[in-house]
Amino acid sequence: MEWNKLTDHFTMHNKITIPCIGYGTYKTSEEEVYDAVISAVKAGYRHIDTAAFYRNEAGIGRAIRECGVPREELFITSKVWNTDRGYEKTKKAFADSMERLGLAYLDLYLIHWPANKKQFGDEAKKINAETWKALEELYEEGKIRAIGLSNFLPHHIEELMETASVKPMVDQIEFHPGWAQLEASEYCKKNGIVVEAWSPLGRKDALENEVLRGIGEKYGKGTAQVCIRWIMQHGILPLPKTVNPGRMAENADVFDFELTAEEMETIDGLKDLGGQCALPDEVDF
Ligand code: A2P
Repeated sequence: MEWNKLTDHFTMHNKITIPCIGYGTYKTSEEEVYDAVISAVKAGYRHIDTAAFYRNEAGIGRAIRECGVPREELFITSKVWNTDRGYEKTKKAFADSMERLGLAYLDLYLIHWPANKKQFGDEAKKINAETWKALEELYEEGKIRAIGLSNFLPHHIEELMETASVKPMVDQIEFHPGWAQLEASEYCKKNGIVVEAWSPLGRKDALENEVLRGIGEKYGKGTAQVCIRWIMQHGILPLPKTVNPGRMAENADVFDFELTAEEMETIDGLKDLGGQCALPDEVDF
């Protein structure tokens, strides 16, 4: 594995770099997120992942401005929510996110979920194309350093590429033991798209698993560290969420052990460990 510390990075196809472990903030409230982000930056995280849907952008922005680390050493991601898809609404949603964050530019902006056929029928393709067009323009204008997708499966990406002029730099998908989306992640990697893992601990459901515990014991590591290491050895960028400074340090202490090929395969094969296990073509939000 080519990463040895939190500031090591993946390189996106437009040559912009992205720190190799991101700090997740889903379900961290606006009230607690300021202290959480300050602690995460103190613990060495330089990559913060949020979304309009998380309703915590204002606290994150304040923490970024006040944490003492220069803005250009931090990497900030946000996402356009489903109710704001479409060209005009996406432009407005981006402006609203930037106002809440209080930042001059964003590092990465993602379409949070693809519009799917179940909800939108034949319109889905057009909605995704127009949302993407708004992101492309914001990128070309220099307001965002990289643009990408979240929860897009290979067929959604193929469809988007029929009209896209900029190839997505990132796809952020659910990925944890019990939900190893290897087909989607391999497709992205083959096409030069960096894969990020949301819910890398399966919303902590995976942490009770005996197989993961046994593997961790061999290295003196906890189950969360095994999950994160397994993701990174797949060449995927994990986004663990915790508001607890001790667990922030634990989730970043994953650079001094290596899972064997056999352990990787064992974890790949685990089933039903919890987490959301969302199917992007089936969701109705
Ligand atoms: P908390 O914020 O109280 O630490 P995921 O990133 O897969 O969505 O998982 C997030 C959940 O896992 C949160 O409930 C978080 O709780 C918990 N969590 C994060 N890191 C650890 C850890 N190292 N050990 C135990 N629980 C953790």
